[in-house]
Amino acid sequence: MQVLRLLGVQLAALVLVALTAHVLDWPASAWGWAGSCAVLAAVLAGWLHDGGWWRLIHLFFPLAALAALQLDWPSWAWLLAFALTVLVYGAVWRTRVPLYLSNDKALSLLAERVPKGGTLLDLGGGTGTVLAWFGRHRPDVQTVGVEAAWLPWLIGWVRLWGSSARWLRGDLQAQSLAGYDVVYAYLSPAAMGALWRKVEAELDDAALFVSNTFEIPDQPPAERLAVGDWKGSELLLWRR
Ligand SMILES: C[S@@+](CC[C@H](N)C(=O)[O-])C[C@H]1O[C@@H](n2cnc3c(N)ncnc32)[C@H](O)[C@@H]1O
Repeated sequence: MQVLRLLGVQLAALVLVALTAHVLDWPASAWGWAGSCAVLAAVLAGWLHDGGWWRLIHLFFPLAALAALQLDWPSWAWLLAFALTVLVYGAVWRTRVPLYLSNDKALSLLAERVPKGGTLLDLGGGTGTVLAWFGRHRPDVQTVGVEAAWLPWLIGWVRLWGSSARWLRGDLQAQSLAGYDVVYAYLSPAAMGALWRKVEAELDDAALFVSNTFEIPDQPPAERLAVGDWKGSELLLWRR
């Protein structure tokens, strides 16, 4: 599990730095310790953790932990921060999909593929950004969104209050894809295999499945549309 590996690498770096400091009789400051652990953990992560991102995470983790300790916040503030993190990201343990939002450019491009008066389903609706955007720019489209995480769902519920959008809380796997003109997903590589099996089983013949950014293993899209944003995002389009 990634978290155990993160803690294991950090602990190994701390032990190595402590041994070195003991042997060399090094009177390091707290920042000296944190900096040494950071560099060593980032180096170890090259062997012991997958993906370049983990090196950066290991590099910043000890420095961020020390900076946080020096903030001297009361303990309830950390409990509150933890509770908010669980409410926003708690489902990530299961879904492996964090929260990030579609931008206006991606949604304008998506809107070009939704027929007039059509229906759109947003799988993993986040804070309701997609449905709110369609409510403003394409009120002819009937929209439905489903979101698993409680706090994003609640924010979406407030945002979409009084609109015609249907905003559901639950697992996207329990939501039927039948009857929609376009099904949209902006999830993560980890979710795409299972989602494709669902698309194959449930998507209407004439309907379009659109993934923002993430590919489906061994299923090249029928079309790729460049969003034109700073991330180089693409909308990937499939029919069944
Ligand atoms: C990257 S965000 C995209 C949000 C929104 N669709 C947008 O484009 O702005 C993905 C969202 O999908 C949600 N999610 C991931 N897996 C899910 C699942 N199995 N069921 C419901 N929601 C899920 C996450 O909680 C997260 O809020």
